[in-house]
Order: sequence, then structure tokens, then C-alpha cells
Amino acid sequence: MQIAVIGVGYVGLVTAAGLAESGNLVIGYDIDVEKLKKLQRGEPPIYEPGLDRLLERGLREGRLRFAEDLEEAILPAELIFLALPTPAQAEGEADLSFIFSAAEAIVQILARISDGLPVPKIVVTKSTVPVGTARRLQSYFEDRLPGRLKVASNPEFLREGYAVEDFLKPDRVIIGTPDPSVGDILRRLYLPYTRQGNPIYIMDWESAELTKYAANAFLAMRISFMNEIARLCEHVGADIDKVRLGMGADTRIGRRYLFAGIGYGGSCFPKDTRALLATARQHGLTLSLVEATIAINEEQRRFFWEKIWTYFEGQLQGKTFAIWGVAFKPDTDDIREAPALYIIQWLLIHGASIRAFDPIALPSLQRAHPDWPLYYARDPYDAAAEAHALLILTEWAEFRQPEWMRLLKKMCLPVIFDGRNLYELDQMRSLTVDYFSIGRPSVCTYSERLASKAT
Ligand code: UGA
Repeated sequence: MQIAVIGVGYVGLVTAAGLAESGNLVIGYDIDVEKLKKLQRGEPPIYEPGLDRLLERGLREGRLRFAEDLEEAILPAELIFLALPTPAQAEGEADLSFIFSAAEAIVQILARISDGLPVPKIVVTKSTVPVGTARRLQSYFEDRLPGRLKVASNPEFLREGYAVEDFLKPDRVIIGTPDPSVGDILRRLYLPYTRQGNPIYIMDWESAELTKYAANAFLAMRISFMNEIARLCEHVGADIDKVRLGMGADTRIGRRYLFAGIGYGGSCFPKDTRALLATARQHGLTLSLVEATIAINEEQRRFFWEKIWTYFEGQLQGKTFAIWGVAFKPDTDDIREAPALYIIQWLLIHGASIRAFDPIALPSLQRAHPDWPLYYARDPYDAAAEAHALLILTEWAEFRQPEWMRLLKKMCLPVIFDGRNLYELDQMRSLTVDYFSIGRPSVCTYSERLASKAT
């Protein structure tokens, strides 16, 4: 099929490259010409494992192109994917101005040309848009170009860091359309990606749009639930990781998205949960579980922070903190809503020095906060030099097996606050260290040794 993808940010680019992979002819368009030029050279503007390979293959084999002219992208297209940002506004509701500007531009181009084009074209919303958007878009097009554009909703379920894998082998594909012929075309488009038998569900617009928000809010709720139980664990002497294993073995619950930590971040869960509340509010409803999910997530960062505050009795001035991980999760350079940003900010406010290391997200941090006086470390051990404590804020694989002796020797004090529960408690007990994690008993072999020496 001939496809246009409007907006080649993270979702649009993975969609464009992923659709080209199964033989479709895809033209990507974006208002950011610099980005297009990079893409034309085969350079992905974001870090996403496997994307460079797809991009290179699509370009080389001529199935994937990037056009600086919208008309060139949409005229030959049977399908026009909209993968534009829908940023949050003041009250959490999604801003649809990019979507409707693109709709206007499409209408202007098609109004001039009517002959020899695939009719009707299908406009597919890939961005996360509030319930009701597809219906609004359809009536926008009907008022201006009757019968020439049909709207479908096709929410994405891509996880950053696994987006290529998630696109090529989706758990499910959701298509929202009231028109069976549109449903058939999109089903055919996605069949090559669901050969293992994963379902393609065709439903009405509103259900498709709400599925996306409900799925993200549900996953966020699981995390907040575990974070809340983790707090209780610390009071009753339980271990959240044991509780998690015990719960997750129940097939009705499942093992995934049950990891307690310092709270979820990223560009999706925080934004989509707030947007869902905004939608409910517009309909006169309160979604108390979603409200609680957001509140618990915000408290969780504070909960972690208070461990540090309590240990140092509020005396952070002049202390040095090593930070491992600033990305909101591993395998991405994305720092949006990353818990690390909050922790770093609080440390700076209280006069602490910071030595930060992240395998790939330091440039993102430097770009976003050029005024923060941080030391950008070369590697995890460089970050730890002379530190009064190490804070683990992202669970990058390379942090899982440190050379303990080398690490602890470098530090000024052997103190670790682990926001991601990376280490076995038994292993930590065998070291001389004060180790604090989430929802598990603390290990204080260092303080105990000091105390026993003093007596
Ligand atoms: C999320 C969804 O997982 C995707 O299905 C969805 O398509 C995407 O949002 C989106 O709406 O575009 P993503 O934001 O890339 O994907 O990140 P996740 O891997 O889901 O992680 C989100 C956050 O939850 C991270 O901060 C992670 O550290 C945290 N998390 C995840 C936990 O704290 N505990 C867990 O058990 C799992």
C-alpha cells in the first residue's frame, strides 16, 4: 500500500519504518526540515534499538522516503497516518491543534486536486487522542470534502526501547472505524505483523480511543498499587519483591508491571492518566482510581527522597551524590518526567554536589537543564568518586553487577539508595554498606560496624 506518515517523531518514525518493512511504500513528512534531512541520510534522530537497521533497509530498498513537501507525501497515499504530538494543556487535556492543522493542510491540498487520486483516502490517527477526536475529524472532513476522506483510529502501544519489536510483533492491533471496508483495508495492512495469531480488533472509534487511555492508566495503576504496598512492606517487615513474585504467579494477575520503584515517568503514563481525568471531568465524572494512581506516583519520589533526608538528618549541604541513571527507564535517552529530574533538583536546592552517569541520557539532561551545575561522569565508577551516597534511579543492565570493592573504595561513604531494587539483600549483607531500597528491609552493615567499634 502507498502510505503517508505525517509527523516522524518517535511514534511516526517507528510506524513509517515498520510499515515499510512489510513492503509498503511509505513517505514520511514533518515540519522539522532538519530532522527530515537527517532521516534522508539514514540517521535516526532518536535512540531506539533496531530502528537504524529498519531505516537503513527501507531507504536502501526504496520503500521508505522522507519528503519536505506535504503534497508529495499525501497525493499518492491511500492511507495517511497522523502521528503528531498531543501535548498536555493546563488542566491535563490533550492539545489537538497539531492534529487539526494537519487536517486543514490535507484539505487544502486535496481541494485543489481531485482527479487521479486514490479515493477515498483513509486518515488514521496514531497519536494518542482524546475520545471523540476521530468523530470530530470525520465531520471536519465531511464538511469540507464530502466523501473523500475516511477517518480511522489506530492507537499505538509502543514502549520506548522496545518500539521496533512492539511494532513488528504487536500483542494486539486496535482499529476504530464504523466502516467495514476501512476495517478490511487496515486489517490487511496489519496481517503481516500478526501471523503468530495475535488479534486485530475492529471496533467503533470511541472504544478504540478509550482502549489506549485505559490500557496506560491500568498499567500505571498496577505500578502505583505496588508502590503503595511497598510502603506498607517497610512498616510490617515484608519484602515487596517476594510479595510481587507471589502475586504475579497468579495468572489472573500476571508478572508484568508489578515492579515497585521511585514511580513511573516518561511521556505517556503521566500525560495520559491526566488526560483521562480531563475527559472524565468533561463528562461530569471522577475517576478515583486514576486520581489515586497519579497521587501515589508523585508521593513515591518524595518517599525515596525522605530516605536520603532522614539518613543525612537534613544535612545535604556540601555532600556529594553519585547518580546512576537519569533516563525515565533503561534503553532510552528520554528524560521526560524522569524521577531523576526531581531528585537532582531537590539535591541542588539543598546545596549538594552531583556526579551523574547514564549510559546514553546525559546529553538529553544537559540540553534540558544547561544551567544545572552537574558533573557529567564518564562511567559509573567516575560518578562514585568521593560520593557520600550513590543513588540508583534507572535500572540500566550495566548497573546490575558492579565491581563492589572498586565501587565502595571510590566512595567517601559506603551508602546506597536504590530506587530500583537492583540487588539481592543477601549479597548486600555480605558487604560493608548501608543499603536502602524500596519496600524491603534496610541493610546497615556499615553503621552497625561503626557502632560496634565505638562501644
Ligand atoms: C508506555 C506503554 O507501556 C506503551 O504500551 C504505550 O504505547 C506508551 O506508554 C505510549 O503511550 O506511547 P513507555 O512510556 O515507553 O510505554 O514506558 P514503559 O516501559 O511502559 O514504562 C513506563 C514507566 O513505568 C517507566 O518509568 C518505568 O520505569 C515504570 N515502570 C514500569 C515501573 O515503575 N514498574 C514496572 O513494573 C514497569
